[in-house]
Amino acid sequence: MTAVTATTADTFRPALHYAARNTWLNDPNGLIFHEGVYHLYYQNNPLDNVWGNMSWGHATSTDLLTWTEHPVAIACNETEDIFSGSIVYDRNNTSGFGTGSTAPLVAIYTSAYKQVSAHHGIQAQSLAYSLDGGYTWTKHTGNPVLNRGSADFRDPKVFRYQSDAGSYWVMVAVEAQEFQVVLYKSHDLKSWELLSSFGPANATGGVWECPDLFPLPVDSDPDNIQWVLTVNLNPGGPNNGSAGQYFIGDFDGTTFTSATTVTEGLQDPARLGDYQWLDWGRDYYAAVSFSDAPDGRRLMIGWMNNWQYANEIPTSPWRSPMSLVREVSLQSAAGSWQLVQQAAGDLAPHAGHSPSFNLAAVEISDGQHILDGAAGSVQRIDLSVAPGTAEEFGLIVRGNRTQGTRIGIRPTDSRIVVDRRESGQTDFHETFASIDTAPIQATNGSYELTIYVDHCSVEVFAQGGQITLTELIFPAATNTDVSLYATGGTATLNNLSVTQYA
Ligand code: FRU
Repeated sequence: MTAVTATTADTFRPALHYAARNTWLNDPNGLIFHEGVYHLYYQNNPLDNVWGNMSWGHATSTDLLTWTEHPVAIACNETEDIFSGSIVYDRNNTSGFGTGSTAPLVAIYTSAYKQVSAHHGIQAQSLAYSLDGGYTWTKHTGNPVLNRGSADFRDPKVFRYQSDAGSYWVMVAVEAQEFQVVLYKSHDLKSWELLSSFGPANATGGVWECPDLFPLPVDSDPDNIQWVLTVNLNPGGPNNGSAGQYFIGDFDGTTFTSATTVTEGLQDPARLGDYQWLDWGRDYYAAVSFSDAPDGRRLMIGWMNNWQYANEIPTSPWRSPMSLVREVSLQSAAGSWQLVQQAAGDLAPHAGHSPSFNLAAVEISDGQHILDGAAGSVQRIDLSVAPGTAEEFGLIVRGNRTQGTRIGIRPTDSRIVVDRRESGQTDFHETFASIDTAPIQATNGSYELTIYVDHCSVEVFAQGGQITLTELIFPAATNTDVSLYATGGTATLNNLSVTQYA
């Protein structure tokens, strides 16, 4: 196999999101901010644009919006695929991989052992280290460092746990088929001791993958810290296929205790809507956070695709983008807590643009109303809208008179809707054309949406980021209209602004 070359115009290549030049990618791996640079490693097939030959690809950025692709960082070989994992900066050289004054970056990844390996059929955790700031990597000769003889033990996320009682490395990984997050402790990243396990709980409609565990202040109060455990699962998401759920509670250095568990054990599918989701759309998976992000920010990236149709999306020569980088924070909400998310890159100064289209205080009448001067393929749209008599109202993006992606509010059943049935190419997979919904409540009588549109995606952040929906779309390049619509009555647009990036 050789790297794929373009056969059709690359009209879906995103402008604000990372996609590999001409190969496949899935999960973000090894996210770390180091020496002023954001490093994004990722599950990559260096030889093709479908899943296979799993290795860690590599890209870097200083603004979280523009990325430079580098050579493959950690490559598969005849005995192992390099599955997902994380990177830590081992500043005190606890691992001993450092030399002289150079402390190592250490990657903790899953070795998925192949047929010819003595460990065939096993997934175990392995190490590689870099002494040049993350550009070249050496596999540890003592791999694997953590093997429990399991076929589905993967996706280690490692962080430094610090408390008055001491500090050590903690690994969160999954026993995917058991719907369990398993926690381990180490002083040197090489020898690991089991601490505890968590799960099954809440959504268990598919294997658990790519967990993360991190502390966040509630409402920015440094004296009120809660721990967030994120777990991706596939399938079993709220709108089908791959998705990520989260739990909030306490981590005492040994055990994570969830305060937000709704159902223990195996899931009741009827309860899916009661769980907390990182994103309600179809295309936000395997999300994990950066190590060592500056200013205490918690920044996450998800893979913007869904295993239901991932290998078939109509892009070429590359396949699959990453989501925008998101900053997550924690808010108190009705006796509990919820994550809120914002795009982390500084989008307005990045493009040197401010809104080029503004509208305020108009009634949206029944029907579709194209907004002259608002059209675009790479844009941010902010709108605030209040219900009237309409059953549903909102925006249509990447459209023309007959097609488009509908992003609407249905106030009577308190749902936000993303309808991509007429979004463009949908017939490459039977599950792609969809209407996806999430719960939403008006704030002071209004719905506030920020929508990022790119060549092949929409990301909706509703009510200040309390609810997000991320979806791939494949419209004709000429479908750029933005419209307001209402069905069966009226609604009131408080204000709308459009910022163009291309
Ligand atoms: C999630 C996942 C991980 C695994 C990787 C393999 O999308 O299945 O569990 O490490 O992808 O590419």
